[in-house]
Amino acid sequence: MGTKIVGLGVYLPEKVLTNFDLEKMVDTSDEWITTRTGIKERRIAENETVVDLAVKAAEEAISNAGIEKTEVDAVVLATLSPQLGFPATACLVQERLGLPHSAMSFDISAACSGFLYGLDIADAYLKSKKKKTVLVIGAEKLSSIIDWKDRSTCVLFGDGAGAAVVRYEENDESDILSSKLYTKGEAWNILYREPCGYLKMEGRKVFKEAVSGMTKSSLEAIEEAGLRPEDIDLVIPHQANFRIIKALAEKLGIPLEKVYVNVNRYGNTSAASIPIAMYEAYRKGKLKRGMNVLLTAMGGGLTWGSMVVRF
Ligand code: COA
Repeated sequence: MGTKIVGLGVYLPEKVLTNFDLEKMVDTSDEWITTRTGIKERRIAENETVVDLAVKAAEEAISNAGIEKTEVDAVVLATLSPQLGFPATACLVQERLGLPHSAMSFDISAACSGFLYGLDIADAYLKSKKKKTVLVIGAEKLSSIIDWKDRSTCVLFGDGAGAAVVRYEENDESDILSSKLYTKGEAWNILYREPCGYLKMEGRKVFKEAVSGMTKSSLEAIEEAGLRPEDIDLVIPHQANFRIIKALAEKLGIPLEKVYVNVNRYGNTSAASIPIAMYEAYRKGKLKRGMNVLLTAMGGGLTWGSMVVRF
């Protein structure tokens, strides 16, 4: 018995912004962006709000889970680009989806680690049997908080949403084998946004923290799950920079073929990046039921951590 991820959904806006488009906007080049980050293009929500993105991803996750909307009894939405100061974006999503009032809905602000924090909260509610079905969403309209004149940040991010329906199943083994999540508030000022301001980042410092934090927490999560790195069938890392992903794989001793990468197509979609990658890996047959999957992320806060899931 335990927590199962029973349905995944994704929504990516149609508009594609390529590195060549960015060359016309700031002093950058496709060559610089590709070699430093691995990103070739990202999606931009022109006419959609973050609520629109979240609702579309959630509708698909609910449909793929084969459940009724009335069965959802909590919505945990991770975002760093909320629709309003308050109420939570999750409340607007609860209304748009037509979920029952008993579906307690709230946002979590853990930047790029938000989906993992959300999954961990869902797991705790499910294991304590306070909830039976939790909708975990990562949704971002980062284009609305990016300074499009700042080449050091505007080339990195994109918009999108991913969602998972997570349930407590009496007859199934738990999906969530381990979870090691961390916060280091003293480093908040290397990645942050002032109220109504733009996202600010000290890229080099974040890069170093990402590689070390994701590596260390991954090793801890693998050990806590009673596994070794070679037992991991698939790694789904937060998609921020291909060089971070490559360094992580090398340090873990896990071949890159076992690591799912789509940062080239979507850039960094923060809280949405892990559920988008999970969904794609599942659709492509790279993520299969029964696999040992390592999820790992690092984001503003600083927040970071890793989970091992038997999918
Ligand atoms: N195009 C061209 N040149 C750029 C540029 C751009 N888009 N952005 C920065 N540069 C320049 C800098 O001005 C600097 O020039 P200088 O040497 O003349 O001063 C040079 O490129 C190197 O900049 P630096 O920031 O040291 O490059 P880097 O190799 O560290 O790469 C990042 C920058 C942002 C790609 C990298 O630090 C990174 O990915 N960090 C982590 C970011 C991240 O993942 N954030 C989210 C975490 S969830």
